[in-house]
Amino acid sequence: MQMIHSLDPLRRAVASLRAGGETLALVPTMGALHEGHMTLVREARRRADRVAASIFVNPRQFGANEDLAAYPRQLERDGAMLAAEGVDLVWAPTVEVMYPAGYATNISVSGVSEGLCGAARPGHFDGVATVVCKLFQQVLPDMAFFGEKDWQQLAVIRRMARDLDLSRPFADAIHGVATVREEDGLAMSSRNAYLTPAERAQAATLPRAMRQAIAAIEAGQDTAAAIAGLRLALLAGGFSAVEYAELRDAASLAPLAAPGPAPARLLVAARIGKARLIDNMPVANIT
Ligand code: PAF
Repeated sequence: MQMIHSLDPLRRAVASLRAGGETLALVPTMGALHEGHMTLVREARRRADRVAASIFVNPRQFGANEDLAAYPRQLERDGAMLAAEGVDLVWAPTVEVMYPAGYATNISVSGVSEGLCGAARPGHFDGVATVVCKLFQQVLPDMAFFGEKDWQQLAVIRRMARDLDLSRPFADAIHGVATVREEDGLAMSSRNAYLTPAERAQAATLPRAMRQAIAAIEAGQDTAAAIAGLRLALLAGGFSAVEYAELRDAASLAPLAAPGPAPARLLVAARIGKARLIDNMPVANIT
């Protein structure tokens, strides 16, 4: 496995990986890899001949008061994990390679990026869309894999690929992979590392309370009341704040007062200790 930090060697390595007409998948990451990332890699390996992963902690998607400096960086360990999964190439550019002096272009996706994390983290999805578009241009993969834990991010990236007529990858070749969870249901996230042991135990309240709210909604309870119950359960369970808890159309992310004929999703962001945790789950549609 090669780990590459600058553009010319990347282009040469990509050309040689595809020299026999092989297909190439990209798994974009910010490192601090866990089993959730490995699931993306395995799915990429299942579908493509060659797999590249990127590791880049993208400063443009962090707000001024966010955790850019604290975000775990462990390139050597991440590289070993990716090599063990049979990844062919790791693209790990420096900030100067990704955003050289004079860099001035921003990609802003409206609609799906509004509300939810878009409201709580102004500029975040511009940073994500910009870096993912650049990663796609740099690696030119046939397909790409993202975790469904970042449901809104996935919608933003697909919209960007569609709107910019990207062909490497086509929007339809941007695959979401189901969230990988710990035994107690907590979604795997690099940010779980910020939790103390006590907070980590309390954090399992999030998936539990979401499942309870979903069961209530699916049983016909008023959605607003079920979500109010979810908020109370989180605050009682050790979370300090609930940033949002909303029922949305799963594809367009339009707000929903109640489930209807189209697939719906419950999306939540809440704070516990130093961590801001997000999660989302499907809510059965009513036909
Ligand atoms: O989900 C992530 O890890 C990041 O937002 C991504 C997609 C790699 C862009 O920096």
